[in-house]
Amino acid sequence: MTAKFAVFGHPVAHSLSPRIHAAFARQEGVDMAYVARDTAPEDFAAAIHTFGAIGGLGANITLPHKERVMALCSQMSDRAKRAGAVNTLTRAGASWHGDNTDGVGLVHDLTERHRLDLRGRRVLLLGAGGAARGVAPSLLDAGVDSLWIVNRSPEKADALSDALGEPGRVHTRYVADLGSLGDFELIINATSAGRGGEPLSLPFSLASPRCLAVDLSYGEAAIPFMAWANAAGCTHRIDGLGMLVEQAAESFALWHGRRPDTDAVYAELSAKADALHTAD
Ligand code: ATR
Repeated sequence: MTAKFAVFGHPVAHSLSPRIHAAFARQEGVDMAYVARDTAPEDFAAAIHTFGAIGGLGANITLPHKERVMALCSQMSDRAKRAGAVNTLTRAGASWHGDNTDGVGLVHDLTERHRLDLRGRRVLLLGAGGAARGVAPSLLDAGVDSLWIVNRSPEKADALSDALGEPGRVHTRYVADLGSLGDFELIINATSAGRGGEPLSLPFSLASPRCLAVDLSYGEAAIPFMAWANAAGCTHRIDGLGMLVEQAAESFALWHGRRPDTDAVYAELSAKADALHTAD
């Protein structure tokens, strides 16, 4: 059977999306083939074109293509426009509709699964790449008090702040200022530092005792920031596995018209992750 659904990334072999969507499809009784396609940046546009030509109906877009894919969309949801990043393509005639389910996925995981209230929180967002862009609009919509964006390259933080268009609530600061920003009630690591490169250097003064620390990565990549959050005394520490499952459920709903229940898939994946870490 030709796969009508796929995730495009580079690298993508590690992606859990094919397993998650296969589980949703079984659960919902949907006949759906979903595969991972490793696509280098220079081949990306041609790969999406070919996917459409052979009957592709929907795709998830992941690192490092979430921004470049916008040029291939004839329509985009408001939340994708505000994010300046797309993680879900749905076939629209001869072209694609671009959406971004990362932000609602994150907020759903934090507020529904973990029963946390985001309203009124002073929030630090570390990073201003595709992942940060995906979640920032939804954090504002969820009613956070203020969003402080700090990125290694300050111009990207400024660009994200401009795109969000809420100068009263959104602020940017330099990495060098982290020590003088006071403490936060929610700190989100949206950098890719845990996937290699220079480790983040974060002062403990950022964490208040009731601080919630969230890493948008999961597995090995989330370990350094989760370890920092533990040492800094953050009461709640949550990695990106739940967000991954929730954003997948939102994409599935866009394609098939119903949102699958996520508890069973999340429980299965987190049990496997725990077993892996215990075996270390
Ligand atoms: P993603 O889609 O995962 O967000 P990305 O768009 O490449 O990937 O963005 C990666 C983010 O992590 C960027 O904000 C990047 O900072 P720069 O804009 O300065 O490159 C940040 N990042 C990556 N490695 C980092 C490191 N070692 N320390 C701090 N920030 C890092």
